[in-house]
Amino acid sequence: MRLWIRGGRLIDPSQGLDGPGDLVIAGGRIVYAGPPLPGAPAAAQAGSRLPDAGALGDGAAAGGGTGPNPAGAGLQVLDARGLWVVPGLIDPHVHLRTPGETHKETLATGGAAAAAGGFTAVACMPNTRPPLDDAIRVEWLAMKAAAEAAVRVYVVAAATRGLAGDEPAPYAALKAAGAVAVSDDGRPIARAGVMVRVLEGAAAAGLPVLVHAEEPELSAGGAMHAGAVAAAAGMPGSPATAEAVMVARDLLLAEQAGARLHVLHASAAVTLDLVRWGKARGIPVTVEVTPHHLLLCDEDVAAAGFHPHWKMNPPLRSRRDREALLEAVADGTVDAVATDHAPHHGMDKDCPFPEAAFGVVGLETALGLLLTHLVPRPLSPARLVELMAAGPARILGLPGGTLRPGAPADVTLIDPQRRWVVEPERFASLGRNTPFAGWTLRGRAVGTLVGGRMVFRLDGGPVPVPAGETAAQEAAGTQETAGIV
Ligand code: DOR
Ligand code: ZN
Repeated sequence: MRLWIRGGRLIDPSQGLDGPGDLVIAGGRIVYAGPPLPGAPAAAQAGSRLPDAGALGDGAAAGGGTGPNPAGAGLQVLDARGLWVVPGLIDPHVHLRTPGETHKETLATGGAAAAAGGFTAVACMPNTRPPLDDAIRVEWLAMKAAAEAAVRVYVVAAATRGLAGDEPAPYAALKAAGAVAVSDDGRPIARAGVMVRVLEGAAAAGLPVLVHAEEPELSAGGAMHAGAVAAAAGMPGSPATAEAVMVARDLLLAEQAGARLHVLHASAAVTLDLVRWGKARGIPVTVEVTPHHLLLCDEDVAAAGFHPHWKMNPPLRSRRDREALLEAVADGTVDAVATDHAPHHGMDKDCPFPEAAFGVVGLETALGLLLTHLVPRPLSPARLVELMAAGPARILGLPGGTLRPGAPADVTLIDPQRRWVVEPERFASLGRNTPFAGWTLRGRAVGTLVGGRMVFRLDGGPVPVPAGETAAQEAAGTQETAGIV
């Protein structure tokens, strides 16, 4: 089947595209992304700029694909007028709780949440029960996700055996099983000597190391950011330096080991300064930030009466830290936005703040939150797409993040004007733990395509129709308009 997505605003920073344009998909891949096509895409394919759809393995395109054939077999047209057409969003940091905690999330519910949020791919963390620290488990999860999740699920394997921080995991085997990176996310790797071996081993296997930077003695017992708000409330705090000293250590060790380092969920101003230093020095480091750290700070935790839905690790920091994150996102220091989607069961949050589990869900709110609060200032639409698609793909070495011909047809259709209210009870995720409940947002994914297949369509969202029918509808529409005029 071929799909012609017509009349939208094509935003693909990987090709410098931002303007009116059409997208043509065949055989699960992009075959054209560019200026609006005058006729049917099949006709355009006769030109030299476009590959033959048949050559891309599109069996259903038989009879079309090379000649002028507006109503060719299997051609569907999707009217994208008023929508942004962007590379499928990629979330490089989610927790799908499989295996072992499927009362919090399953591959099916997490996958549905991703699709509803406009994500076509996610990378899931290994802090499951048991942890994803051996090849069989990684392979099992990748296969199970391919069968059960609506979106692509890439597996991040454990950096150390049992996530215990003592013994590096078997990286070559993990990579062969499909792992795209290694991490002990949720737990720091406290011992510098172990970290060196992790970085050297991962570098030898060609895997990036994703670090949850937290010095455990400095953060011990902390429930929120150690600042004026925590002090006034008598809450146990975790200082920004607990994050920063580990980022400093890991930058130096990554340089020594020649490893690729990715800093997960940066939350503090000083962390971004260190990453800037590392980048200037030529250390291969990347960094992500979350929507909650960009939009909230410790004052919001107090304003919410220390509700456990405002508790996560790293914690919401000071207003100054939040402003520094925004600057770093705008000035290009930050490589990606990640949700750190961390679903928990109600009972893990139904307790006083210091005892509650760390974590908030994010897949279904990230895009709307950033569109509403950060676009067009300080982020242009193209920069947002870069942070949510090309950036994550580059960090993890994934095939998506672009609408370049030949790329997988992973596409997100965004209605930038659509107003909606965050209603956790309507989430596809099993997790309801969000600080954004009740927020009114503007902008939302209305359609999500993975490999050219629509895996999510918002009520009232665009429906692909056979090409012949659009022609008939357009003719009818023209007559109606003529009648009115
Ligand atoms: O808030 C968090 N939740 N931070 C982490 O590092 C782990 C995560 C989880 O797994 O719940
Ligand atoms: Zn995480």
